[in-house]
Amino acid sequence: MGLLVYPESSRKIFYEIKSLINEGEVLKGGGTTVYLVRFRSRKLSVKITKLSRLKKSSTLLYLVGPSKGYREFKNVRLLKHAGFNVPEPLMYWEIRKHGVVEETGFVEEYLDDVVPVRDVLSVNSTDKDVLKILANTFRRLHDAGFFMRDLTFGNFFLSQDHRMLYIIDVSRMVYLHISVPLFLRFEDLSKVDSDEPALSILMDFYWGEDRGISRFSANYVMKRKQLRRIRKSVTHKLKI
Ligand SMILES: Nc1ncnc2c1ncn2[C@@H]1O[C@H](COP(=O)(O)OP(=O)(O)OP(=O)(O)O)[C@@H](O)[C@H]1O
Ligand SMILES: [Mg+2]
Repeated sequence: MGLLVYPESSRKIFYEIKSLINEGEVLKGGGTTVYLVRFRSRKLSVKITKLSRLKKSSTLLYLVGPSKGYREFKNVRLLKHAGFNVPEPLMYWEIRKHGVVEETGFVEEYLDDVVPVRDVLSVNSTDKDVLKILANTFRRLHDAGFFMRDLTFGNFFLSQDHRMLYIIDVSRMVYLHISVPLFLRFEDLSKVDSDEPALSILMDFYWGEDRGISRFSANYVMKRKQLRRIRKSVTHKLKI
């Protein structure tokens, strides 16, 4: 078994965190489990993915690709350097057996005193201030070359005064080094949870003065979402 901890200076902290996991609160279970761990008077979010808990379809990726912990750590740092609000990334680890990632973990600061965008918009889906800060952030991310691949509201948090937007869960993100091309922007925007009329408001903020492309985006994204829903319900009924 090979253990890699980055930064190497965090190796001791890694063992301490591992021993605290069982006392931690589970924020989200499944193939990847997210824990809230209290560590030396700090609150940390610890995200652990174990090969044994993954679905068969995702295991192949693990054999060949860089680990999820590594990708998340690298991506959070990229976003931080580009000036986006992200939790402080602290460390990641990989445990490999015969070169295969058996377990990978990622640790970052736990965002306290924030409100999930999902909660705010479930009360008022057309909250203009929130849709505006979301759209502006999506636009800035795309202009800066970040293809997010997971723009669901569960990955965004607001400060109490709703002036700051924080981004989490960026292991799938790809930094393209160039402004994100139009077709990939649509790909990203079609993951956004809003339906009409909130979607059109969001698109207007995203595209600014360009009402033509805003209308087109809203229609296109709605069609993509409808298709995805149909596909989901069919596969659910057929239990594929
Ligand atoms: N740094 C953090 N601060 C506060 N809460 C967090 C943090 N990281 C994760 N969480 C909580 O845990 C939940 C799940 O985290 P996350 O979105 O990273 O996992 P996920 O969507 O299951 O990830 P993946 O899609 O990569 O499997 C979040 O919705 C949030 O409530
Ligand atoms: Mg998420």
